[in-house]
Amino acid sequence: MPAEANILVIDDDASIRVGSEQALARAGYRTRTATSGERGLQLCREESFDVAIVDLHMPGLGGLEVLRKIKEENPNTSVIVITGHATVESAVEAMRLGAYDFLPKPVTPGALAAIVKRALERRRLALESLCLELALDEKPGPDTMVGTSPAMLIVARLIQKVAPSDATVLVSGETGAGKELVARAIHRHSLRREQPFVTVDCGSLVDSLIEGELFGQARGAHGGATEAATGKFAQANGGTIFLDEIGNIGPAVQVKILRVIQERRLQRVGSSQTTPVDVRIIAATNRDLEKETKAGAFREELFYRLSVVPIHIPPLRDRREDIRILAQHFLRRYGPRRNPRVTGFSAAALRSLELHDWPGNVRELENAVERALVLAEGDLILPGDLVPQGLAPPSQRGRRAAGHLAEAERREIADALGRFGWRIGKTAEFLGIHRKTLREKIQRYGLAIARRARGKPKKSG
Ligand SMILES: Nc1ncnc2c1ncn2[C@@H]1O[C@H](COP(=O)(O)OP(=O)(O)OP(=O)(O)O)[C@@H](O)[C@H]1O
Ligand SMILES: [Mg+2]
Repeated sequence: MPAEANILVIDDDASIRVGSEQALARAGYRTRTATSGERGLQLCREESFDVAIVDLHMPGLGGLEVLRKIKEENPNTSVIVITGHATVESAVEAMRLGAYDFLPKPVTPGALAAIVKRALERRRLALESLCLELALDEKPGPDTMVGTSPAMLIVARLIQKVAPSDATVLVSGETGAGKELVARAIHRHSLRREQPFVTVDCGSLVDSLIEGELFGQARGAHGGATEAATGKFAQANGGTIFLDEIGNIGPAVQVKILRVIQERRLQRVGSSQTTPVDVRIIAATNRDLEKETKAGAFREELFYRLSVVPIHIPPLRDRREDIRILAQHFLRRYGPRRNPRVTGFSAAALRSLELHDWPGNVRELENAVERALVLAEGDLILPGDLVPQGLAPPSQRGRRAAGHLAEAERREIADALGRFGWRIGKTAEFLGIHRKTLREKIQRYGLAIARRARGKPKKSG
């Protein structure tokens, strides 16, 4: 909607002001101009602009300062900075302060119109997804997805599009990127939403066990089985089965899953009979399954059956726009419980979150925010509170506090595990963390080893 877009040009150079105004008017945008940073900010307070074009080098209030103020007062205005002798540092600084892009001089009408068009398009997407929360979920809940990056908006659109169909979906992405969350969102938005959503962690089971787990067991199968057992496929009947870490299953089980997909019938281990089953399959992998298929490590036909609709979630470091909103989201989620006094992040803390590479993706960010909440002493999270993630050089206070925290957390988890008889799902739900996070913490704190040492039988959840 170019006609409705409102653009502001702030430049002390009259030729740029006039040239830009003409170029933008020709492209159909409503344009205002200001001769100084001060005047520009004043206009910004009087009316709302979709895009502001700001010269970096102006007498009086400089461009970076104007940018910072605009982003502070009108975060929804996209700012494009014009750089004179395109110094890399100032361009980088401008981007860090939230500029949408920069335009080196000389400014040509074509380049200006193009960059404004892109900024507007991007802004439209961002506003649409101001929260994927709004795009996807009516009510915020434990599985709410947030994000404003174009990549996540595409994911959200795919989810909406594919949910109502029964198409098999293969979700791929690095660990902690949100694959399970996407799978749950698909189920929630599908016609099967009232039916069960059953998760199978294919990564944690050996092949000999996974068959029974998936397909069920007839009485007397495997010698030891005295009771017939219902498999996950049967439990998911009418609903959705989520096959997590599908890349880990061996060839024999691959064939059996393929058969369920093709025949829509189940055969229990140790039984010769088959029964009909109606499940929607969503699979997830953090490996490059396509490559493994080409290399012959994964059955080609199964790969194609699973990836009818592939959804890839990019790693968090490739969609840094999401970091801020995710951090706020986790603050809202964990704040009341971990440290109700904290109201937000300091600007420096946010910046260090945005600069970190997050090899553990959203889960790592979630853990970092939760821990920072416990470490924070005032009402803002400071860079030093993000210490355990190695985001900043550790202070003594941080390290000591982290030690206390770890001990308290270890005890809390051990207690909860005891209370729920080591049922991972129940314990995780009680603690308000994901199963995966719980497993990581069990491992980190050596809880399973301690338990075995006390002679209790190991039970997988
Ligand atoms: N877009 C998002 N919005 C809100 N929370 C998210 C988002 N993406 C991920 N999370 C949270 O991050 C954590 C990890 O997500 P999830 O378990 O879905 O990742 P995953 O890709 O399945 O990881 P893994 O490969 O380790 O199994 C969860 O607590 C989840 O709620
Ligand atoms: Mg997962």
